[in-house]
Amino acid sequence: MKMKRQLWLLLSICLLWICSSASGQAENDKILYYPSGKLEAERKYDKSCNCDKLTEYYESGKIRSTATYLRKAILGSQLDGAHITYFENGIIQLYTFYKAGALSGRIYANFPDGKLAYEQYFADSFKTGRWKFYNADGRLKEELVFDEKKTPWNSQDDDAVQMFYTEGKLIYTVKLIAGKKSNLTIIDKDLYNRVIAAARPDGKKLFQQECAMCHNANVDIVGPKMQGVAANRTREWLVKMITNGEALRKSGDKAATDLYAKWRNMEHPNFERLDSGDVDAIIAYLNELK
Ligand code: HEC
Repeated sequence: MKMKRQLWLLLSICLLWICSSASGQAENDKILYYPSGKLEAERKYDKSCNCDKLTEYYESGKIRSTATYLRKAILGSQLDGAHITYFENGIIQLYTFYKAGALSGRIYANFPDGKLAYEQYFADSFKTGRWKFYNADGRLKEELVFDEKKTPWNSQDDDAVQMFYTEGKLIYTVKLIAGKKSNLTIIDKDLYNRVIAAARPDGKKLFQQECAMCHNANVDIVGPKMQGVAANRTREWLVKMITNGEALRKSGDKAATDLYAKWRNMEHPNFERLDSGDVDAIIAYLNELK
């Protein structure tokens, strides 16, 4: 929400600026106010650098952000130098630095208490060096070590090694080639198993959230009881029934057609939004209902 508001603000300031340029008032300063009358943003033209200095404020009067836009010869502008966003408590939220419109040098973000959240490096318009991401407790969460001069500063297709930490220990690394994961290397097997198991979706919980209003383990309610279902059907059939039962029936599947008739022509809700990990977890739970 805040991001949206800032984007909107930036856009409207740029628009104001283009309009004023067109009407020959390129050097006019601009001021925006909150509905309460408090200062929200001001843009000041600085002749010495042919640039505009933009400052945004919280309604409390505290500075929200500062940035410098260098005017280009024809039309438009580009960020130049430091662009800093602050928490309302005055602590830097995000520090970025631009050179000729591209991120450059060290970029970092903090948690509201001032602890470092992450740091990233850019050089000659490429991502570079060893990026670090931290947990709020100060321990390392992830590192991204870039292949030099491979990933442009504004690209998401990273060429790098991604290193994942838990409890401050390196547990596995992944090689990224043009943003695609390859070469998973497990460093700490015990921790890896523990962390991956913890992240695995919980089939019983998902069943209770998504299915229990119509299905019970032992009795028919809105839909058939689930006990024994997994034993009677193939896994593939179950995936189709759960994710898109209607398509399964319309493909001419006999079991799905019979069920549909038996259950008063009720179309099965379509669970395409569940990802394959969720569906696997639900099916694993159905398998336990012997
Ligand atoms: C709105 C009610 C409703 C919800 C929610 C629902 N189902 Fe169903 N389900 C049915 C009905 C009714 C049928 C009978 C078949 C039909 O109507 O096409 C059925 C059939 C099934 C079958 C086939 C049973 C058999 O005998 O082979 C499976 C498996 C199934 N549902 C799993 C699920 C799972 C898993 C979820 C949650 C992700 C879910 N359903 C959510 C109503 C529902």
